[in-house]
Amino acid sequence: MSNATTAADPGTIMPATARVGVEIVGVGSALPEGVLTNNDLSAYMDTSDEWITQRTGIRQRRYCDPDKGEGVLSLGRTAMRRALEDAGLDPSELDLLILASVTGETRCPSTSCKIAAELGAVNAGAFDLMAACSGFVYSMNIASALIRTGEHRTIGVIGCDVMSNIVDIADRNNVVLFGDAAGAAVFRATDDTSKGIIASQMCADGRGWADLHLPYAERDMPEGADLCDIRYGRLQMRGREVFKFAVSTFPRLIESTCVQAGIGVDDVALFISHQSNLRILDASRERLGIPEEKLYVNIQDYGNSSAGSVPLCLDEARAKGLYHAGDLVMFVAFGGGLTWTSSLWRV
Ligand code: COA
Repeated sequence: MSNATTAADPGTIMPATARVGVEIVGVGSALPEGVLTNNDLSAYMDTSDEWITQRTGIRQRRYCDPDKGEGVLSLGRTAMRRALEDAGLDPSELDLLILASVTGETRCPSTSCKIAAELGAVNAGAFDLMAACSGFVYSMNIASALIRTGEHRTIGVIGCDVMSNIVDIADRNNVVLFGDAAGAAVFRATDDTSKGIIASQMCADGRGWADLHLPYAERDMPEGADLCDIRYGRLQMRGREVFKFAVSTFPRLIESTCVQAGIGVDDVALFISHQSNLRILDASRERLGIPEEKLYVNIQDYGNSSAGSVPLCLDEARAKGLYHAGDLVMFVAFGGGLTWTSSLWRV
């Protein structure tokens, strides 16, 4: 393994960014109680468990019940509370809270402000970040960079989406894919400069926006689109285009992040990826020769929960002891925008 960390030689003047390490000190997640299986879906639309499982690997997903008070606010708050408990920190020790979500409950105030208030994170700045399924990984890169400037010490990041609010329940092309979930992590400055991000990328190509978008009015639709069956406020997706984008982007992203860090793909102990479709994950993993046990997969149980999927995987992988202190863990995601992003950590 090549040594991509930046241990200081005695007497060397280190750049400001290398003087602070960043540690993931706590993780947590939260799921709604309601389970929607493939058979539940096939009871009211023309689909089947066999079709969904073969094309996507998904067997069930979680759905919020607003009557039980479930939504972005409650899931995000619970996930962050659990991450803080895991870290042994009081909410007042957070100096910033970022919520990655495209399904936030209000635009003003941001949902993160409400979560901060409900948690008692009285010393935290708060904002929502929108990068669709890439949102949590974008946010962890931003959190790490802010901590490395020395201006922040403890940052909470939540990834949460309630996709059941924006999928068209009558559209079999995309309703089968999505579910609701939240995950969270607390990032903290440490004197151990070997810990933290050693390579990262945040990319976007807005020319592909119409492949996955959420229109609210005619003006939000691509030119020349057939408007007859459009339900505004519901996700529109060109499944095959997104599939092609993801299956080509995923391996390139992993390879280029490894090159940037000066490591080989084999050096990474665990890949934590956005869960979009099992075929996308498998094809990319096989192309790079990554063994099955090194790519965490839980799509069968939760579907694609957008910004919630990466931190939910992180929480499960940590609970299962799939990575250890000192390991290299790579986070990758891609989604609407189009966006794609990576974050390679020495944990
Ligand atoms: N059940 C049964 N049949 C379905 C169906 C469903 N839920 N959804 C679509 N079909 C049908 C189509 O109507 C089509 O029928 P036709 O051949 O008679 O026209 C057939 O199945 C094949 O459709 P197609 O869209 O070509 O299937 P696919 O193999 O591309 O799989 C996706 C569809 C959506 C599963 C796949 O394209 C995909 O996963 N794309 C990426 C989506 C994604 O990851 N989005 C989020 C990114 S963050």
